[in-house]
Amino acid sequence: MSNISHELRTPINIFYSTIQHLDISLIKSDKDFKEMYRKYRKTLHVNCKRMLRLINNVVDISKIETGILKGKFDYYNLISIVEDVTLSVVNYAQLKSINIQFDTNEEEFIAKCDPSMIERALLNLLSNAIKFTPENKNIYVNIYVNDDFAEINIKDEDIVYIVEEAALSLKDYIENKNIELVIEPDMEEKIIQCDKYEIERCIVNLISNAAKFTPKGGRIDVVMKDLGDQVEILIKDTGIGIDEKYHNSIFDRFNQVIDEHSEVKGGSGLGLTITKHIIDLHKGQIFVSSEINKGSTFKIVLKEKIN
Ligand SMILES: Nc1ncnc2c1ncn2[C@@H]1O[C@H](COP(=O)(O)OP(=O)(O)OP(=O)(O)O)[C@@H](O)[C@H]1O
Ligand SMILES: [Mg+2]
Repeated sequence: MSNISHELRTPINIFYSTIQHLDISLIKSDKDFKEMYRKYRKTLHVNCKRMLRLINNVVDISKIETGILKGKFDYYNLISIVEDVTLSVVNYAQLKSINIQFDTNEEEFIAKCDPSMIERALLNLLSNAIKFTPENKNIYVNIYVNDDFAEINIKDEDIVYIVEEAALSLKDYIENKNIELVIEPDMEEKIIQCDKYEIERCIVNLISNAAKFTPKGGRIDVVMKDLGDQVEILIKDTGIGIDEKYHNSIFDRFNQVIDEHSEVKGGSGLGLTITKHIIDLHKGQIFVSSEINKGSTFKIVLKEKIN
């Protein structure tokens, strides 16, 4: 803390002496005043900024220590936030002949974030980078969106087979927990357009949730209905259920139900987010209906033809 107060005092002293100079010049009002004024004004400006940054850091640190620092989160384009911050230090870096290179593979990536916190975090990292990079060298700022997930590999596939395989792969695990698993397709075969690995992933996510949140002695039904140009897949359990107020938020990243009747059973709270994303990419739908202590049903509706 004493180091910080020393640093806080330095710019203040510079303000004072600069202001004194200005006062004297103002009284004398000589010809060179304009030029001098410009020079001192710059010193004031730079030091004001430095001072503000220091004060902000001190305030933030004490907020972090007391647990008060909370972001104001909303949806923003993360790419342009990072790009703007980078651009704002380009001139400053050029004073040291450091070249800053920005690169991205996407123009837009909307993320829930607090832009002012991201700006501050990046500015801290960038100013360190500038400080510790020798003249005539480069600094690279890269923001890459991981898009392995943006595309699905659509083929004609038998959805009955995919769902059965997914369920069978979990059968031993479920039966070892003393839960009954019943697979009931109402058709022998149904060809639809889908990515079989991704759909299998969804079914595995839903059945493992059902197994995770159903006590022993319970039952899980995997039901399939042929609706002609659509197919319905239901995963029903007799588990702890989900309060209606959580029916939307469980599909958000990292969200897990934490209330008096449920207990968090590990996991990351990503399974349903990924599942919904995959179903969206298939232009399908996912629904939940549930009653506390009675059980939950997750329903996926997939189209026979996506396009
Ligand atoms: N069948 C279910 N019965 C009761 N609660 C459920 C059921 N499925 C999901 N939930 C609730 O929704 C939350 C989010 O589910 P999700 O699959 O996204 O995450 P998770 O299972 O906790 O972790 P992960 O799947 O990433 O390992 C769960 O933590 C749980 O509270
Ligand atoms: Mg899960």
